Amino acid sequence: MKIIKVKNYEEMSKRAAFIIASQVSIKEDSVLGLATGSTPIGTYKQIINIYNDKLIDFKNITTYNLDEYYDLSEENEQSYRCFMNQNLFNHINIDKKNTFVPNGKAENPEKECKRYDSLVEKSGNIDLQILGIGSNAHIGFNEPDDKFAKGTHLVDLKQETIDANARFFKSKEEVPKKAISMGMKNIMAAKKVILLASGENKAQAIKSTIEGPINPLVPASILQLHPDVTFILDEEAASRLDK
Ligand code: F6R
Repeated sequence: MKIIKVKNYEEMSKRAAFIIASQVSIKEDSVLGLATGSTPIGTYKQIINIYNDKLIDFKNITTYNLDEYYDLSEENEQSYRCFMNQNLFNHINIDKKNTFVPNGKAENPEKECKRYDSLVEKSGNIDLQILGIGSNAHIGFNEPDDKFAKGTHLVDLKQETIDANARFFKSKEEVPKKAISMGMKNIMAAKKVILLASGENKAQAIKSTIEGPINPLVPASILQLHPDVTFILDEEAASRLDK
């Protein structure tokens, strides 16, 4: 496990974008695992800058997003598909046919979960997985539970996750209560993982993830078992670590 401590959100975003840009340059047909939420927005902006400087090419890149709200159509502004289009895909030369997000409107969510897992596996697994972290240490929408979820699954979001995500919606009532999330199998099968965290509200989750025991009640703690994981933390997110 590697820990990179940086000053603030901007530096975190630059460091992460640099790693992603290196991956895309070294392997032009890389498979990237992507996250949504506030944390990676700065990273995506930096990637767009690097792309505009003609230093990277997304023509042959494939992406898989971690999750999608259940029962939101991809046209809904709050859907993660919309988020990805607005914050990244519309600004780079990626072929949208090669960008995958679980179908939040799937009539049969179980079937959709299986389909998504087999897509990721068929693509040879993820080369570089980008993760944010919830203040309850969820990754993707793998919420604290008595066991780690293996495959892509339909999740009941925890109240704290609904509350945290309410900032993106007009009211708390509008926040979906369920989501489809990649499980730990695909995340752990990624060849390289970077987890980004910024802000004091992530400090305890980061401490438990890195220094606590591996425990499904702290879902991100499973990353202690990953052979190539890098945490990029700003001062506040790293503030409770022992060293
Ligand atoms: C989103 C995702 C979530 C977020 C987490 C943190 O695709 O997988 O695990 O990374 O909820 O969200 P922010 O970055 O908004 O604090």
